[in-house]
Amino acid sequence: AGEVHVPDTRFSFDGLFGHFDRASAQRGFQVYKEVCASCHSMHLLSYRNLRDLGLSDAEVRAIAATVEVQDGPNDEGAMFERPGRPSDRFRSPFANERAARAANNGALPPDLSVIVKAREGGADYIHALLTGYADPPADVTLMEGMNYNKYFPGHQIAMAPPLSGDGQVEFHDGTNATVDQMARDVTQFLAWAAEPELEQRKALGVKFILFLTVLGFLAYGVKRKIWADVH
Ligand code: HEM
Repeated sequence: AGEVHVPDTRFSFDGLFGHFDRASAQRGFQVYKEVCASCHSMHLLSYRNLRDLGLSDAEVRAIAATVEVQDGPNDEGAMFERPGRPSDRFRSPFANERAARAANNGALPPDLSVIVKAREGGADYIHALLTGYADPPADVTLMEGMNYNKYFPGHQIAMAPPLSGDGQVEFHDGTNATVDQMARDVTQFLAWAAEPELEQRKALGVKFILFLTVLGFLAYGVKRKIWADVH
């Protein structure tokens, strides 16, 4: 298979003044929670991190409380289950890699915490992958249990199309959940998860360029003054 060109998707976090679209990222979290989380962990995130997306304390508490978390040992030395708290990490769908592979035909769904940074093409690639399922061309025979994807390296991916139909999730804010919209939103969420400090990084970059510009003029003025009497 030759090199595939991943289409460029416009995201709010692109460019010098990039920022996260928090409404989109919140919808993306909903897609992750309702669709992706049954196979993919995000072990670097805690529920409290969702406050950064604009969720209230009460909302974060409510989301955390929907999962059962293993805790212990208690005073009697026993392990026990309790409802999740904001300080807990996102719950992983499988106990370990063997369980994950056993449930996925031998394939391993990667942790999605930093997937946007881990894959060449970043957010554009993730969006393309999620919308890139197609029937295989006539000269391609799919291996058992594999799916054809235009953008996955090698084109045969063990993940069945996770976003398969419009309206698969019902967005709280009434946004129409087309496959493309869900893919964009979950990519926005994953981009935030992989680099929550992106906005500060870009803002610092802009300030630094402004500073360098001022410093440049200043240095030029000083140079003119120092050399003013040399003919
Ligand atoms: C792989 C995202 C839902 C099973 C992947 C990869 C990404 C991804 C980015 C890595 C592709 C690469 O290596 O370049 C997502 C998202 C989902 C989702 C955003 C929700 C919208 C699911 C679900 C399942 C699943 C529900 C299980 C039923 C897998 C497996 C792989 C994989 C088994 C490994 C594929 C391979 O290496 O051939 N997914 N996924 N995914 N995913 Fe998902």
